[in-house]
Amino acid sequence: MAETSSFKISASILAGDLLNLGEAIRTCERAGADMLHLDICDGHFVPTISFGEEVVRRTCQESKLPAEVHLMVSRPGDWLSRMADGGQFRMIIHVEADTRVMGILQLIEREGWKAGVAMNPETPATAVEPLLPYVDNVLIMGYAPGFAGQPLLDYTYIKTEDVRALIEKTGSSATITVDGGVKAGNARQLVEAGADILVVSSGMFSHENPDESLNEIRRMVAGE
Ligand code: DX5
Ligand code: ZN
Repeated sequence: MAETSSFKISASILAGDLLNLGEAIRTCERAGADMLHLDICDGHFVPTISFGEEVVRRTCQESKLPAEVHLMVSRPGDWLSRMADGGQFRMIIHVEADTRVMGILQLIEREGWKAGVAMNPETPATAVEPLLPYVDNVLIMGYAPGFAGQPLLDYTYIKTEDVRALIEKTGSSATITVDGGVKAGNARQLVEAGADILVVSSGMFSHENPDESLNEIRRMVAGE
């Protein structure tokens, strides 16, 4: 069973008030998020459009929290120049988004960002094995990407165990993120399955007390 005490929470602003992003960022900070998760939806790789490079740039200026950008976009390579000077963050691209993901991950590293690879629910764990030398993070979607607030697919636990086994087999030091559907009620099981980072959005913004929501998740993971 995985160590449960060192996991981190990455707060996504997607379920926050997009007309009041500054306040959404401050909610993440007050709640004690370890990092910010910025979801870019392009209306092509996923059916929705969220926000783009200017919001990423402003968010990185506004908050001291480390950030990760989850690019749910087709042709992720085109986004690298758009993101130049946007700040220091982990850039996460989808393994399904391009046929040249390995090369794009190498470019991301060369530009000085951390690189992560994300996978949709239908994508088998083995799809990321050849990419492990080029990433510091694997993001497992808990449901089909594009919308916050959906329920976690049960299959996610087994997939997390499978990715953890691949990471151990290959000697990779990549961390595992589970993104989508994370709530206080399933967080412990996800960390036990091997998740290092949990993304939380509606579990915080739709909570009766957002400032306390992440503490509640931490208590549940600790078994308190
Ligand atoms: C979904 C995004 C997720 C989402 C998580 O397309 O990639 O990061 O914001 O939202 P919740 O926590 O509400 O499932
Ligand atoms: Zn995301």
